[in-house]
Order: sequence, then structure tokens, then C-alpha cells
Amino acid sequence: MSRTTARLHDRYPELGTGPVPVEPYISPAYFAQEKEKIFKKTWLHVGRVEEIPGVGDYFVKDLAACDTSIIVVRNKQGVIRAMHNVCAHRMNQVVYEPCGKARKFFCKFHGWAYDLDGKLTGVPEEGCFFDLDKVDYGLSRVACEVWQGFIFVNMDPEPALSLADFMKPMYGDIEGYPFDKLTTGFSWTTEVNCNWKLALDAFQEAYHVAYVHGHSIADAIDKSDGGSMRPLDALCGEFHRRLSLAGNPKSVYGNPKAVTSGGEAAREALAESAATRPIAAAALRAGMGSATHEFRLDTLPKGMNWTGSDNWLFDINVVFPEFYLSLRPNYCQAYNFRPISHNRTLLEARVYYPDMPTAGGRFFLEYMKVALRDVLLEDLSTLERTQTAAQTGVKKHMILQDYELLVRHNYKVVDGLVQADAAR
Ligand code: FES
Ligand SMILES: [Fe+2]
Repeated sequence: MSRTTARLHDRYPELGTGPVPVEPYISPAYFAQEKEKIFKKTWLHVGRVEEIPGVGDYFVKDLAACDTSIIVVRNKQGVIRAMHNVCAHRMNQVVYEPCGKARKFFCKFHGWAYDLDGKLTGVPEEGCFFDLDKVDYGLSRVACEVWQGFIFVNMDPEPALSLADFMKPMYGDIEGYPFDKLTTGFSWTTEVNCNWKLALDAFQEAYHVAYVHGHSIADAIDKSDGGSMRPLDALCGEFHRRLSLAGNPKSVYGNPKAVTSGGEAAREALAESAATRPIAAAALRAGMGSATHEFRLDTLPKGMNWTGSDNWLFDINVVFPEFYLSLRPNYCQAYNFRPISHNRTLLEARVYYPDMPTAGGRFFLEYMKVALRDVLLEDLSTLERTQTAAQTGVKKHMILQDYELLVRHNYKVVDGLVQADAAR
């Protein structure tokens, strides 16, 4: 396949190449349809198993797109359960804290008690009720399953697909990635005044990197193909999608092996960055070799770097509808773009690294935290202006180039479900 002539779109003629309507990005009515037909029907990532390691550990997740708040808890058997945070008595929120540890959940209004499975176990002055059978009044359960340590929930009482079947067609082949060995993370949460698709789109193409990230990480992406940052390849499934990107191995950010593998990879990364990015180079020198785990490329699952590129940088994985999971050998990013309204989105960004217990390793992590924060701020810098401009209604369509295939796929999948006669 010639790198210069083959187009990513060639493999997906059904997606077309025409303009994409703006309306789904600005319309409250369209968002109402997305809530009913997508967010209340499909699997949504809410956290990782490590967040609730012990019996009774819980967190609460507000899911505006599902009009609910849920409690996710590890029960006495060690199984993770999810239930709506709504008391069966007079509908108070049962848990007020965002996370914690509980033996039971006590409603603060009239003291009803629920066990870790959501069963109603105690009612003050129970005898004053009328034929109350506690079995009938537990917390309402939500379907909850775990994939590779990631906890997902589904508001549909009978999900159309199991989580395993939902993930398998695209993401079965990244199972075995060492998610459980990446723990040292940093995270940011922020609300952005733009549509959730618009926010996600800014993370599922690299066309913007030379401009938005011109002064930060643009040198990390391979530009050998006539100066353009051509993706290595893209894959689109029924719901999910994936983009593989090549890096510039002579840069700190563009050489994913540098910090965990050290050696030749690190020497290559430092060759030019020592002069062009001295602080990044210093951080790499400090952190090199201090990671508790090294993940060699040939030990990673076959779904990563599936083109077998020597200069592979990372893969963007988008788990439908709004979970972005970018995977490299030495770290991964897990971002959620949770819709709040048609023009407001909650971004939850988490970054996972292997432990780096040395002082140098901690310096490297601190450096990466600041560097990634700046990159994220660059990404967010256009979104609210774009939303405001889109809402003028001046432009009815946007046009996409070949490297923006995933943006088109996102629109097509969402629109296909929204336009379907009935919710699945
Ligand atoms: S609303 Fe919860 S005990 Fe009354
Ligand atoms: Fe970006």
C-alpha cells in the first residue's frame, strides 16, 4: 500500500466523503435523542477496579446524559455492583459523598439502611408502614460489568449486548495490555462549554497537532510523509474506532520506549531533544530506568501497533460512545467526554504510568504531568470558541479530510442510532 496515495476512507466507502451536518453538535433536540437512544442504552465507562479495592469501597458517578447518579461499590463477595443513588422511601439521594467506604448505606432523610448489594435491611419504625415487604424496596440495580479492570455500567435493565460482546469486535485484541501494572496516575476534571462530540473529535484526529500543539508536542509526530502527519492506519467498527500514529523517535514525546526501555531508544530520543527540548530531555534522563515495569513492544497485545511500524507512537482507541483510551508501551490515557447538555461536557482525564519510585522517576512524572496539562489546555483552547461559532448557524455543514476519518465515523454511528425508528 502506497503511503502517499491510499486513503483511509477507501476501506470504508459506506461512510462516504461528503459534508457533515452541524446540527447534531448544536441542537438540544438532537441531544435529547442521543440521551434516550445512546447513553441510556449502551455501556459507559465509569472508573477502574483499583479505585474500590476493598469491601465497601464505593464511588458515586453523576451521569447527566442518563439523568441519574449511581453508586458503584464492592460488595462482601468482592463483586462490583452499581445502583441508582435514589432512596426507595421518598427518593432522597442516599449517598452524598463522591467516594468512601461503607458497611451499609444509610439514607440521611429517615434512616433507611441498604446493604452493599442495595437490599433494604433496615427501616426505622417499620411497624408504622402498611404491608411493607423490604424485599420489594431495595436500591434499583444498574447493569455493571468489568473489562480489563475498567468498570462499565448500562442503564438498560436488559442490555442488548454483554460488555464482553460489546468490546470484542474492536477491543478483544488489546486484552492483556498491562493496565493493572499502571497505577501512578494523575488526573484532571473540567467542564467545557461545547458539545461532547465536538470535544471528543479534537482528540480523535492528529491533523490539528502541527497548529494547536505547534509549540509543545508537534515534534513528537512523524512528519516523514512529505511534511504531513499521516496516520499509520485507521480502523472503524460498528461502534468503536481506532487510529494508529507514528512518532518521531528523535523526540522525548515521540519515542514511547525511551523512558521504560532506556538504552538505544533513550539515546535516540535524546540525540536532538537535548538541544531542542532541554527540560524534557532532563526529565527523561532523570526518569530513565526507574519504572518498576518495562513493556517491550513485542510483548504487547497484537491490537496495538497493528501495522508493525518501527516508529509507532501510540494508538487512539475510542470506545463508543465517549471513552478515549490511548495506549503506549509506557503509559496510557483514559479520557471520558461525558455529556451534560447539548453544549456542555464534563471531561475526566486520567493518565496511568508504571510506578517510578526513585526521585528521578518522580521528577519525570511531575514533568509529564505539567507537560500533558499544557497539551490538554491547548486541546481545550479551541472548543468553546468552536461551539459558539457553530451555534451562530452560519455554517450548516463541516468538511472533513481523509485523516479525520474517526470524526466522520463518530458522526455516522451516532446519527445512525439517533435516526433509527426505535431505540434498540
Ligand atoms: S427518603 Fe430515604 S429514608 Fe426517607
Ligand atoms: Fe491535541
